[in-house]
Order: sequence, then C-alpha cells, then structure tokens
Amino acid sequence: MLNIFRGKRKFQNLDWMQIDMHSHILPGLDDGAATLEDGLQLIERLSGLGIQKFFFTPHVFQGMYPNTPARIAESYESILSSKYADLAGGFAAEYMVDTSFDSLIQHGDSLATLPNNHILIEMSYIQESALIEKVIFDLQMNGLKPILAHPERYVFYHGNVQAVKRLRELGCLLQLNLLSLYGYYGSNERKAAKQLCEKGLVDLVGSDAHHMRHIKALEHWIGKEDLWPSFKKCNLQNQALFDHTHA
Ligand SMILES: [Fe+2]
Repeated sequence: MLNIFRGKRKFQNLDWMQIDMHSHILPGLDDGAATLEDGLQLIERLSGLGIQKFFFTPHVFQGMYPNTPARIAESYESILSSKYADLAGGFAAEYMVDTSFDSLIQHGDSLATLPNNHILIEMSYIQESALIEKVIFDLQMNGLKPILAHPERYVFYHGNVQAVKRLRELGCLLQLNLLSLYGYYGSNERKAAKQLCEKGLVDLVGSDAHHMRHIKALEHWIGKEDLWPSFKKCNLQNQALFDHTHA
C-alpha cells in the first residue's frame, strides 16, 4: 500500500507541456475530429493528461482540405460555445507547403496564424517540397515565424539530421510530435525524434491529435515512460511563445 504513490513520477503526464499548439480537434475541417462531440472528447482526455490550453491547427491543403481562416473560425466558435471554452487559446492552421500555399503568401491573403506571428507548416512525408526554403524566407519577409511540424516524420530527412538543422538555421522552428518518441509512427520516426532531442533541435512539442487512437496511445505510453526527460537538451518554448499573458 505504501508504495502506491512512490512510483508516480512528476512528469508522468503532460503538465510540463501546458500548451498544445498542434491538433486536429476542430470539428468537420480535416481528417481529425468529425463532429463537435468527437472534438470535445479529445479535449477532455488531453486536459486530463495536463494540457491547459489548446491552439487548434486543422490542415490547409488545397484539393483535400481547402480551409480558410473564416471557415476555421466558424468551427472554432463551436468550441467556444462548449463547456471547454476556457481551454481554447485560439485557432491557426497547419499549412501544406505547396504552390497553392506559396500563392497565398504571394497574394498577401490572410493566413491563420498562431500567437505572436507564428505559423505552422508541413510537407508531404515522402518528398521534400522544392519550395520549402523559399516559403520559409517569404513567410519571414511577411513578418511571420515559421514552425515546421513533425520534422521526424519526413522519410527524406531520416539519417540526415543536417538537413533539418539547416532549416532551423534558416530560422524555422521545429515542432516534434509526442507520439513519435514512443514509436507510434514507426521505428525510423522514433529514431529521428530521439536524434533531434539529443541534438537539442526541438523547439516545440505538440500532440497532433486527430482521433481517440492517438489519445489512447499517449495515455498508455505516458504511464510507462516519462517524455519530459527526452527534452533535457532542448529549450522547449510551448509556454513562452504562446502564453498570451507573456505575449
Ligand atoms: Fe498535424
């Protein structure tokens, strides 16, 4: 009986992370939550793990998820009308780096951004976008600070940490998916995630939660292995960058 709590370590949840800045919880916009009820369930379970604030980032990918800031705002309203309104920090998007996104930037169209002018971008997992460096530069020229989502998941960077490091040197922040460290996406992704952590290249972490399978996997693994120690060489900025009280 006496040992029940002894094994419970401080970081066996996501208290340390506080702010989740990458998720697909807003209903009806992409391959994440389909309904408001689905989305609220994801929020409930993640908040149970210690997340205190969410910035929602649905995919924007022309042809597949043609979301606009107005459309995303509409979905976000449904969360604000729910019992979890207090946990809603804001909405942004996860923009696929392609010619459509490049056009949006060139035309000065309004983009769904994270607090303090940050913007989340991603690429195809199997082929590096020829536009990646141009887009990073153009975003910066527009006063935006790009964050590359889950660099550990791009197969073309596996075994080439130098290429990822270069993007960071260009000023692009790097956001790791929590589940990558547990091998949820595969052993190569896990290895790449560990390597980025080991080299101190991770700036932000996110759940990238799409559905209950992601949550269940997180709950399962967190009970077995703390994530926080993986980041001891990194300067995680989830709170510093997105906490409005420090903006
Ligand atoms: Fe995502």
